[in-house]
Amino acid sequence: MSATIIDGKVFAATIRGQVEAYVTRLKAEHGITPGLAVVLVGEDPASQVYVRSKGKQTVEAGMNSYESKLEAGTTEADLLALIDQLNRDPAVHGILVQLPLPKHLDEDLVINAINPAKDVDGFHISNVGLLGTGQKSMVPCTPLGCLMMLRDHLGSLSGLDAVVIGRSNIVGKPMAQLLLGDSCTVTIAHSRTRNIADVVRRADIVVAAVGRAEMVPGDWIKPGATVIDVGINRIERDGRKLLVGDVDFASASAVAGAITPVPGGVGPMTIACLLANTLTACCRANGLPEPEGLIA
Ligand code: GUN
Repeated sequence: MSATIIDGKVFAATIRGQVEAYVTRLKAEHGITPGLAVVLVGEDPASQVYVRSKGKQTVEAGMNSYESKLEAGTTEADLLALIDQLNRDPAVHGILVQLPLPKHLDEDLVINAINPAKDVDGFHISNVGLLGTGQKSMVPCTPLGCLMMLRDHLGSLSGLDAVVIGRSNIVGKPMAQLLLGDSCTVTIAHSRTRNIADVVRRADIVVAAVGRAEMVPGDWIKPGATVIDVGINRIERDGRKLLVGDVDFASASAVAGAITPVPGGVGPMTIACLLANTLTACCRANGLPEPEGLIA
């Protein structure tokens, strides 16, 4: 048996198309252009790649992109002053501060300085609380993309056993909340979980988000399960540089019912959801109907 491959590239392109179509209407009917501000502090190479990609796709969707690049030694006061300025700017509907920040900056303090209505990452404590209590919020982009793929592939998730591997604030915890919201029975497994293989083997849905290359082998997967691989790990094998997930794709795809590849699975969905969140924030700010199908 061989798993269905869930194509994130195709799905993300569809979402970007829907966002672009809605943006075109917003401009034509209301004279409003959604704007996304991305703040990058320092020169982390991976972050630079992400930020460039976000800016490019924002513009391609017809939205305004504002990039602020600050030097690695930027003070907390200067960064907070910039966030304050973006919070006040009516042309900016979404604000994203690229993580990780340099060590001398307090990430929680910085994230919680963003106006929650503009917090398109969904990391502000207020959005975390709203999501956890089932209220309207901004939903973190990567888990939102995973949820969209799961709903698209499975239809209703109600009553399914879901195991999320990894307990990060960016992916694991909000993913668990979203699955709970869709009436899954949710387990969060992590580095201290006992008999993790047996825990994962119970799952109809596995979301792997730990950041350890190929740590989930095929024999942890229940036959027919749906596997979402959030990992993006750079490794070298046989002298070749490779991008691999947290799941061992070769063995897992022989057992799973469906699986996301790396690259081309969750990755492209994250930025597509960021654009969707920016559009949603813009609609809410202007008292306009929110685009359907693009929010959790
Ligand atoms: N760094 C890695 N993932 C993310 C993300 O989703 N948002 C932000 N702001 N930084 C990140």
